[in-house]
Amino acid sequence: MKRNLPIGVLVSGSGSNLQSIIDNIESGNLEAEIRIVISNNPVAYALKRARQHKIKTAIIKHNDFETRESFDREIVGILKSCGVELVVMAGFMRVISSVLIKAYPNKIVNIHPALLPSFPGMHAQRQALEYGVKFSGCTVHFVDENVDSGPIIIQAIVPVYEEDTEETLSARILKEEHRIYPQAIQFLAKNKIRIENRKVIISEGKCDKLISIHNPCLSGF
Ligand code: GRF
Repeated sequence: MKRNLPIGVLVSGSGSNLQSIIDNIESGNLEAEIRIVISNNPVAYALKRARQHKIKTAIIKHNDFETRESFDREIVGILKSCGVELVVMAGFMRVISSVLIKAYPNKIVNIHPALLPSFPGMHAQRQALEYGVKFSGCTVHFVDENVDSGPIIIQAIVPVYEEDTEETLSARILKEEHRIYPQAIQFLAKNKIRIENRKVIISEGKCDKLISIHNPCLSGF
């Protein structure tokens, strides 16, 4: 019998990644079911998106808690009571503690708008532009005890152009985020992923035709 993976999505902002997960579930591409959307920001647009699709929501304000751990404990309680098996961080602007990580070992994923391990932390797109890289992109990874450092599941590369601004580069990256995040969750839903040391082995989608890409393009070399 077909079984959809029960997921919980943690958000803080606009929720465009949440939207892409919802859309892929609704179109039948992604075999998951969103049990709860939790926001630490009461006015996050992501909450509106969830409600529009009749998805259960909860607002947990971090300021109401004295420690990171007690905030996380509250979140774990809600996730568990909803039967969540995979926690999906989608623009969730809080560093999580070992309380959440221990409750969901290797069952928390995040998306980051850079090619990790380059440019972790805030303003990744700005960091990439300021550094002058010719390519950037996005990364879906497991969440561990450090920031943006867990095993990498899938990455997408986009070119960086001379005329790019933080906005144009972010938009180019975001389009790819909306593709790779549902794909990563689908790999997990179908049990296609295992972790060996810190390497993520995926039994599908091998990309062995791709040799290299260049920016700028080579002229006869
Ligand atoms: C995305 O760029 C994501 O990579 C980062 O936060 C942003 C969230 O965007 N972690 P949205 O809320 O999904 O639109």
